[in-house]
Amino acid sequence: MTEIIAILNQKGGCGKTTTAVNLAAALAIYGKKVLVIDMDPQGNATTGMGIEKNKVTKTIYSVLTGETNIKDTILNTEISDLEVIPSNIALSGAEIELSKEVGYHTILDTAIEEIYEEYDYIFIDVPPSLGILTINCLVATDSILIPIQAEFYALEGMVDLLETIKLVERRLKSPSPIKGILLTLYDSRTRLGRDVYSSVKNYFGTSENIFKTTIPRNVTLAEAPSHGKPCIIYDNESSGSKAYLKLAKEIMDKDNSEGE
Ligand SMILES: Nc1ncnc2c1ncn2[C@@H]1O[C@H](COP(=O)(O)OP(=O)(O)O)[C@@H](O)[C@H]1O
Ligand SMILES: [Mg+2]
Repeated sequence: MTEIIAILNQKGGCGKTTTAVNLAAALAIYGKKVLVIDMDPQGNATTGMGIEKNKVTKTIYSVLTGETNIKDTILNTEISDLEVIPSNIALSGAEIELSKEVGYHTILDTAIEEIYEEYDYIFIDVPPSLGILTINCLVATDSILIPIQAEFYALEGMVDLLETIKLVERRLKSPSPIKGILLTLYDSRTRLGRDVYSSVKNYFGTSENIFKTTIPRNVTLAEAPSHGKPCIIYDNESSGSKAYLKLAKEIMDKDNSEGE
């Protein structure tokens, strides 16, 4: 069974791209076949996986506009079971262009159907907005992973985010359950870390949705993208790599027990 997971939070800098790249890489290292679809015009997931984003012309944008078949946009990475559909700044035009298309919100969903069966996991790195690109991601995905940065304003914008998810569920009849909330840049030893954990728990009314694994602040996670490598390849001993491997394990265990 393939599972599509969208990594979503309209807040910038909360670790969406870092999570998409490193969680995908970790699952590939555990033997899963994984695809990352970069839906952010900034193309950071593309760069972080070793692709020169300005040299590619077959991107997720050309899939959305109907110029390219999705199969022709898939690129290999340094990890054999990890592939990527790249993005670059061209995608920023899509918000306006797609709004003129009939049924614009299902374009990504329809495209993914063609390749769906090739993978165990497909991650979508969702852009930091609540526009047409994000709605396409929500329609296409099976579930949502929300990274939340441990900071004072951690939950700011969460109301709008959850409203958008509900709207897509209601209007487009496309349910996207929350796979889990991931605490990033997190330190349980600090007062701030503990405060953020309990406010997230209070907000969602339970800790059930919060991944047991948390991602610490780790400079190696921030350095790896400039070398075009997932952190796990760049330095597999770093605390960041270990955390994403642990998260991958937690997700595989959960999926196994649910599949039984
Ligand atoms: N756990 C972490 N420890 C240290 N730096 C991190 C961590 N997670 C992300 N970063 C860095 O913070 C910045 C924002 O992260 P990113 O994943 O790009 O966020 P988003 O995609 O949500 O905008 C990047 O420079 C990234 O390298
Ligand atoms: Mg990003």
